[in-house]
Amino acid sequence: VVVTAGGTREPVDPVRFLGNRSSGKQGHALAAEAAARGAKVTLITTANLPVPSAATLVRVETAAQMDEAVREAAPGADVVVMAAAVADFRPAEVAPAKLKKADGVPEIILVPTVDILAGLGARKRPGQTLVGFAAETDQVRQNALSKLVAKGADLIVANDVTAPGAGFEHDTNQVVILDADGTEREVPLADKRAIARAVFTAVLTRRKPS
Ligand code: CTP
Repeated sequence: VVVTAGGTREPVDPVRFLGNRSSGKQGHALAAEAAARGAKVTLITTANLPVPSAATLVRVETAAQMDEAVREAAPGADVVVMAAAVADFRPAEVAPAKLKKADGVPEIILVPTVDILAGLGARKRPGQTLVGFAAETDQVRQNALSKLVAKGADLIVANDVTAPGAGFEHDTNQVVILDADGTEREVPLADKRAIARAVFTAVLTRRKPS
């Protein structure tokens, strides 16, 4: 099982980056749950959080580094869970020295990053299960379903990041797990380990239908 976690940081200059509010807690909880269930786990993370002792840790910072680590680990994986909040854009150029205030308002040109999950969907081999996350503020189900289809995922864990106690930085989360087969599972507000259990239960149900 390969799990990605945390928010990527896209450097602007040697002291600044573009980032997001992802803490990595949900991804690390997913890695812990997979390890507890006996999986061989590779955790690709930007976060400085506890790592399950049995997991292989790959620490990354940028979307490009995360993509490289995923390309390395995913071909041998039965399950890939993209819990990371990957930047969609990065500065086109990283200033080699600190940008100085006296030089005025900087114009930072952004360019797209690679969509790691979409790449995984395009390269997916038979028997591999791809799980994406969808961080939404509105039209949660519709947006999440569009991502499921567009990126070729098998499951999407949708969360309304504006709901009380859910999403970024919290210890709890509330999600809807959408399966490409049309099944929906609502998981009420619970700690992120409980959400992780629900995600792997959905993964196993899909892999071994009873
Ligand atoms: N993702 C990815 N690579 C990116 C952006 C997102 O692999 N460059 C993955 C995330 O890890 C997540 C899923 O795609 O599993 C959806 O991420 P999200 O940020 O919700 O959606 P975006 O595709 O970035 O779309 P938008 O920002 O327009 O909502």
